[in-house]
This record gives sequence, structure tokens and C-alpha cells, in this order.
Amino acid sequence: MRVYRAAVMGSGGVGKSAVTIRFINGEYLEMYDPTNRRQFEVDGTPCLLEILDTAGIDQYLSLNDLFIRDSDGFILVFSLIQKETINEVRGVRESIRRIKNPVHAQTIPMVIIGRDKADLVDEREVAPQTAEALAIESGCPYFETSARDNIGILPAFAEIVRQIRQH
Ligand code: GTP
Ligand code: MG
Repeated sequence: MRVYRAAVMGSGGVGKSAVTIRFINGEYLEMYDPTNRRQFEVDGTPCLLEILDTAGIDQYLSLNDLFIRDSDGFILVFSLIQKETINEVRGVRESIRRIKNPVHAQTIPMVIIGRDKADLVDEREVAPQTAEALAIESGCPYFETSARDNIGILPAFAEIVRQIRQH
């Protein structure tokens, strides 16, 4: 069975760990077991997906470069209730493009997640069109998720596997 590695990246506190835990355990927890791998089927073919749940702060350290080199795909998370976290998605995206072969910048397996789709709807700061525009400029699919309500998580991780397979 193929093993793929995907890094979850984005600003501090946007919900990277919550998304990871929801994917790995099907649970919404504050604490979790760091064995971040899950076997699942994508389009009828099983695979093992290892998730590197980065810390927001790593973005300012060269540690991130190492994670980027080591990963096949990237899940970039921002929060729909904190519009400034979109800029960090752009920053991370550019780091990834710089570190991975820039000739293939448009084909780097990547998805963008806007967190808090349904559960904090009154606090939403990012319009759907703004998020769609970010996805278009990044050349990758966009998912709105809620780790709390288990919305959109599995589709986002399945899509990263599809992109890695096609890469
Ligand atoms: P760092 O590792 O510090 O960069 O943070 P992180 O990106 O891993 O964020 P984390 O998953 O720890 O979530 C931060 C806070 O947001 C926690 O208090 C979570 O409970 C909360 N949170 C995460 N996802 C959701 C969600 O889908 N809905 C709601 N309502 N809260 C969420
Ligand atoms: Mg975390």
C-alpha cells in the first residue's frame, strides 16, 4: 500500500490540530495521540496517509522548510472568523512553491481549508467569494470545514491523496 505524507500548515490557532484529530480519530478533542496516520480508501484504493501537524509558530523557523521538503502534499488552513489568517496561507503557499521545484509550482498537491464553516456562522469574517478567489489564485481546491461538527474534513484529505496520486 502506498504511503503518502501531507503537512497541515497555517497560522497559530486556526485549527490545524482539530482538523488533524478529526481526520485521524473521527473525534473532536483538545488533546490527541501524535501518531498521525490513517489508512483509508480513496476512489476504491486504500492508502496510508501520514499527517504532519505543524505548529503555527514553526512558520517563522527554518523547521518549516524541512517539513515542506519532507511532505508530498499540503493542507493549508485558515479561519473563516479571522480574515488575517488568509495572508498566512499566501505566505505558506509561497514558501512551498519556493522550496518545491518552482517549475511545477502549479501542480504541487495542495488544498485550502477554511475552518468553522457552520458552527460560528455569526462571527464569519471571510466571504465565500474571498475564499474562492484565494483558491483560484492558488490553483487548488477549497473546502469549508468544521472539525467540531465533522463537516468537510474527509473530502479535503481524500482530495490531497488524489492530487498526490496524479502528481
Ligand atoms: P497551533 O498548533 O497553536 O498553531 O493551533 P492549531 O492551528 O493546531 O489550532 P487548534 O486545532 O489547537 O485549535 C485552536 C482552537 O480553536 C481550539 O480551542 C479549538 O477547540 C478551536 N477549534 C478548532 N477547530 C474548530 C472548529 O471547527 N470549530 C470551533 N468552534 N472551534 C474550533
Ligand atoms: Mg496545533
